[in-house]
Amino acid sequence: MIDFGIYHNSTREQSEKLRGNAEQVFTVLFQRTGVDRSSHLMILDVGCGLGFLSYVAAKYFPNADILGIDTFSHESLEQSSIVKAKRNMELLGLSDRVEFKRVNILGMSETLGRFDLAISNLVFHNLGERRFDAYQRVRDILKADSFFINGDLFWNEQSFIQDNDKVKGFDLIYYVNPRLSNNSPLYYVSLYRKKT
Ligand SMILES: C[S@@+](CC[C@H](N)C(=O)[O-])C[C@H]1O[C@@H](n2cnc3c(N)ncnc32)[C@H](O)[C@@H]1O
Repeated sequence: MIDFGIYHNSTREQSEKLRGNAEQVFTVLFQRTGVDRSSHLMILDVGCGLGFLSYVAAKYFPNADILGIDTFSHESLEQSSIVKAKRNMELLGLSDRVEFKRVNILGMSETLGRFDLAISNLVFHNLGERRFDAYQRVRDILKADSFFINGDLFWNEQSFIQDNDKVKGFDLIYYVNPRLSNNSPLYYVSLYRKKT
C-alpha cells in the first residue's frame, strides 16, 4: 500500500489533510512558474521523506526526472526509510522517473547535479538557523532563471516576513497561505525565482 507517512505532532488523518492541501497549492504554483508541463525537467525534492511531493511533481510534469534527497532518519516523519520511498514509487509506476538518495541537505552541493526546479515541503523549519545555509545550497544547485517552491511552517506572519528578508539570492514572486486549522503554526507555500 502507498504510504506517505505520519508527520511529527500529527495524526495520520491530519497528515493526509495537509498533503491534500499541499497538492492543491503546489499545483497552482507549478502553473505560476509558467514552465511548459511537457518539459524534460530535472527536479530536486529537498527532504523528500516517503516521496509525497516527488509524486505530486511527477504527476504535474509527466516528462520530468526527479531526485529526492533525505536523511530518512529524522523525527519529523515517523518510520521513514528509503526502501519505503522506493516502494511507493514502484506502486505508483514512477520508479523510472523518481530516484532517491540519502543526502543531508546541509552537506548538499553541486555534485548532485544542476536542477531546473527545486521543491520542498515541511522541511526547512526543522533546520533552525541552519535553514538559511540550506536556502543558499538550494540556490547553488539551481540553473539560471529557475524556481524553488517551498512549503513550510512559520509561527506567524511576522516570522514568515523576517525569514524572507534573510533569504538571499531568490526573489519571492508569489505565495499562498492556506488556513489548515486555527492552530499555529501557519503553513506557507512560496514560489521563488533564482536571482541572476
Ligand atoms: C515532515 S517530513 C516531510 C517529508 C515530505 N517532504 C512530505 O511532504 O511528505 C520532513 C522531512 O525532512 C527530512 N529532513 C530533515 N532534516 C533533514 C536534513 N538535514 N537533510 C535531509 N533531510 C532532512 C526528514 O528526514 C523528513 O523526511
